[in-house]
Amino acid sequence: MALTQFTAGATGTWQIDRILAVTGSTLALAERLEVSALPRTARPDAVWILSGATSYKRYTERAEQAALDAVQPALGRSDARCASLIPITKTARWWDLPQDERRAVFEETSHHIAIGLEYLPAIARQLYHSRDLGEPFDFLTWFEYAPRDAPAFEELLARLRTSREWDYVEREVDIRLRR
Ligand code: HEM
Repeated sequence: MALTQFTAGATGTWQIDRILAVTGSTLALAERLEVSALPRTARPDAVWILSGATSYKRYTERAEQAALDAVQPALGRSDARCASLIPITKTARWWDLPQDERRAVFEETSHHIAIGLEYLPAIARQLYHSRDLGEPFDFLTWFEYAPRDAPAFEELLARLRTSREWDYVEREVDIRLRR
């Protein structure tokens, strides 16, 4: 399994601008964030380390995947000097729902993919799963964009956070980065 590790500490490609607890408890502030593809032994300066794995799609339907594939950009674009790492945990009530009801909240009611698509290709994204790794968060969400697209990213967040899906979010920390 390919694990990605996010280490907050004294070194790393990304400078941490701010860490904001949106819901629930925060994470400690550090100067920089390192994103590494392989799990490695903890650095002595590490303030916190979060890990996640890319995984198969749970909710995306074929037509939605085709629409995403047509516009979604890769990570690592040279002009994408802003990033956000947003770790999220959903409630027991969410995880107790059957698959079809989770999908209905996610898309038919909250329009997560439809809304998200409006912001592509400006925003590049990657979803990592952490829940089955015994991590403190269920998901690590990662976004990269150019400084000029920062206002659009704020608008996207505001729209998703007022959706029904977010009624099921019990912890969310919003970490803003620059390189
Ligand atoms: C899941 C698209 C923005 C948080 C997903 C999935 C898609 C998607 C297709 C479903 C993956 C699957 O089938 O398993 C998008 C697009 C976005 C966007 C196109 C536009 C940039 C965001 C933002 C956040 C977010 C801004 C949070 C701050 C999540 C979370 C999941 C998810 C937590 C996992 C949901 C779950 O499995 O319960 N997204 N998303 N997404 N997204 Fe987004």
